[in-house]
Amino acid sequence: MHDRMTSPARAHAPGKIILLGEHAVVYGRPAIAAPVTHVRATATVMPGRPNVGVVINAEDLGRRYLLDAAPKNDALAHTINTVLSYLDVEQPDAQITVASTIPIASGLGSGAAVATVIVRALAAHLDHSLTDAEVSQLVYETEKLLHGSPSGIDNTVVAYARPIWFVKREDPAPITVGGEFTFLIANTGISSPTKITVGDVRDYWKAAPDRYESLFDQIGDIVIDGRQALEQGDVEMLGDLMVANQDVLRDIDVSSKEIEQLVRAALDAGAYGAKLSGGGRGGNVVVLAAQERLPIVETALYRAGAVNVLRSTLSPIEHT
Ligand code: PMV
Repeated sequence: MHDRMTSPARAHAPGKIILLGEHAVVYGRPAIAAPVTHVRATATVMPGRPNVGVVINAEDLGRRYLLDAAPKNDALAHTINTVLSYLDVEQPDAQITVASTIPIASGLGSGAAVATVIVRALAAHLDHSLTDAEVSQLVYETEKLLHGSPSGIDNTVVAYARPIWFVKREDPAPITVGGEFTFLIANTGISSPTKITVGDVRDYWKAAPDRYESLFDQIGDIVIDGRQALEQGDVEMLGDLMVANQDVLRDIDVSSKEIEQLVRAALDAGAYGAKLSGGGRGGNVVVLAAQERLPIVETALYRAGAVNVLRSTLSPIEHT
């Protein structure tokens, strides 16, 4: 059990990337997402001064404030209050320090990761242990505050910290990958709120339901094959499926000139596959490439306008 008098409670959580299935997942089709372990959020909870309550120390924002004085829509305070009410405990005297290297507002799950580490570290400080499913559910409460009515894929992959097969309102299924997959995650530098693209797609779907249902079905079929490619360690098959998924996302009208430039550059430089990841119209492009081609593809992505490129690897060893 955690000894709150002697050691701080600490938790880490990775970023995330959606490999296949965004947007269609909102309409009940499956999606696959994976953790990005090269970036992470960290929370530390230490005992605080008596009768002060919770002090939130948001290091990246350079802000320290009392839980009781936080604005109503403050995501950190919302997460803390959700945990306290779930565990049915009084507000402790504690300092919660949060820091993250996950780029914000770029579809890498920074909000979900920050909420995840707060949930885990605060629960540990209060001598409660939570399952991944409980953590995911509590983080979903904050995701709703940040994103409206998200599918829940972000909180799930970040809380489980494993590649997952995700269908809305169903238990997630962790995927065991059968080989090594190396990805580049290239940021377009364009911030595009997911809430807006999800809202636009809802309008398009309302105006042409049959067409959009059929596009979502096409994505659903791609995701089913994608699970097989991951489990079999088949990089070429996964690459082809990413390209096919991007073709449908373009038809759905959530791509953009900048995304297309990065996708084209990656494929021309010999990548197996490339597609937008997340809400689209900005944010990140995820690229699958052979280990030895990474430097060439990375250079091509920067030349085509990427403002930042991260590397991420999925290997069987991590998930056995
Ligand atoms: O922008 P991100 O990475 O949070 O992903 C959004 C994924 C969508 O399918 C477009 C929306 C959702 O809630 O699943």
